[in-house]
Amino acid sequence: MKVLVIGSGGREHALLWKLSQSPSVTDVYVVPGNDGMSDVASLIPIKGNEDIIDFARLMQVDLTVAGPETVLTEGLADEFEKRGMAFFGPSKAAARIEGSKGFAKALMKKYGIPTAAYETFDDEEKAIAYLKANDTYPIVIKADGLASGKGVIIAQSEEEAIDTVKDMLEGHTFSGAGRSVVIEEFMEGEEASMLCFCDGTNVVPMISSQDHKRIFDFDKGPNTGGMGAYAPAPVMTKKMCEEVNVRILRPIVAAMKKEGYPFKGCLYAGLMITSEGPKVVEFNCRFGDPETEAVLPLFDGDLARVMLDCVHGTLSDEAVVWKKACAVDVVLASEGYPASHSSGEVISGIEDAKKAGCLVFHAGTVKKNGQYVVNGGRVLNVVALADTLAEAKAKAYEGVSRISWRGMQYRHDIADKGLLHLETKK
Ligand code: AMP
Ligand code: GLY
Repeated sequence: MKVLVIGSGGREHALLWKLSQSPSVTDVYVVPGNDGMSDVASLIPIKGNEDIIDFARLMQVDLTVAGPETVLTEGLADEFEKRGMAFFGPSKAAARIEGSKGFAKALMKKYGIPTAAYETFDDEEKAIAYLKANDTYPIVIKADGLASGKGVIIAQSEEEAIDTVKDMLEGHTFSGAGRSVVIEEFMEGEEASMLCFCDGTNVVPMISSQDHKRIFDFDKGPNTGGMGAYAPAPVMTKKMCEEVNVRILRPIVAAMKKEGYPFKGCLYAGLMITSEGPKVVEFNCRFGDPETEAVLPLFDGDLARVMLDCVHGTLSDEAVVWKKACAVDVVLASEGYPASHSSGEVISGIEDAKKAGCLVFHAGTVKKNGQYVVNGGRVLNVVALADTLAEAKAKAYEGVSRISWRGMQYRHDIADKGLLHLETKK
């Protein structure tokens, strides 16, 4: 079968790498991709949804897989479905679960799915009055709409909260995304991610994982797209996974079907494990990045088959199997990230990291004169698998130590929260 992946980050490189291992897959294409993906896929330099549809039709692609949320919120899945072409990813209506925080929160409220208490405002005065009446801080303020993971502010005081609301509603900070704001209760706890395969009716969770959203060690500094991940996450015990499945995953998939917009594709539940049990921080309508780079190397099934099962409504638990191992993914970022990023620095040591037994997934690189150079904020993902989390961490950082460029930055504590859980359990 011929498979096409849309996107150009580390997540897409991991998807392509895993898909290329499916016994049924003969050809792997990526639009637009990045140079580092040419080890597993043919790069197709086209732009725009019309061109993607034309390419898939002309090349008789059997399965198209969406990486980023943007093509989904634009309705590309609907265009493929109209033409009878298999597409892994939700419809425009179902993608609102990520595209609109207000929509997602209302759906959770209606179906009793645990999440932080919230209110939505499009009127600045009402939002400010609400904040003035509130006496518990911190409080969380979110721009309603896609803001690339950066539309969330945890305000420590009333003053900061009011300034944030003004900024968002007046559109200074989050262009296009800030027509309304969600103000919600701050949830205390540890975060975890559950990515799930969904076929509209059935939901099969993948192995649990944990992202590291802040730029600096010990969760300091501003939020980023994600600085690393590991899987499975010890905070997600077997009991907790079951609770999440019963209280969150199955109910949301059933709710979306009942409401007339069944979810097909990868549903990503961002969770907070609180003292009151698991609560939803957010849903995303696509694979997480960097979680995917840690989760997929542990997947032991035929990914293309499972994705087609999701498209055709024939997903089964048995097809989703996992290696008994742990994975750690360390993101290497360029200077200035996340506020900006540098570019053009020559990267050395990628092959050496692979020789140390690591996988290297490219995110922001480009090949110039036969060498990879920096071309984005998140540049590379160095991933290691091992029997234990401690071994996987050591192996990943051994790989990291072999790579360098001017201004390279990364976190040194990826997987430490997981290791702490394992230590305290002993
Ligand atoms: P989101 O874009 O909704 O995933 O939010 C980004 C990050 O902000 C999350 O990963 C959390 O770290 C944090 N966050 C969002 N909402 C809350 C909340 N209600 N309580 C605590 N932290 C939150
Ligand atoms: N890892 C966060 C995200 O993919 O949105």
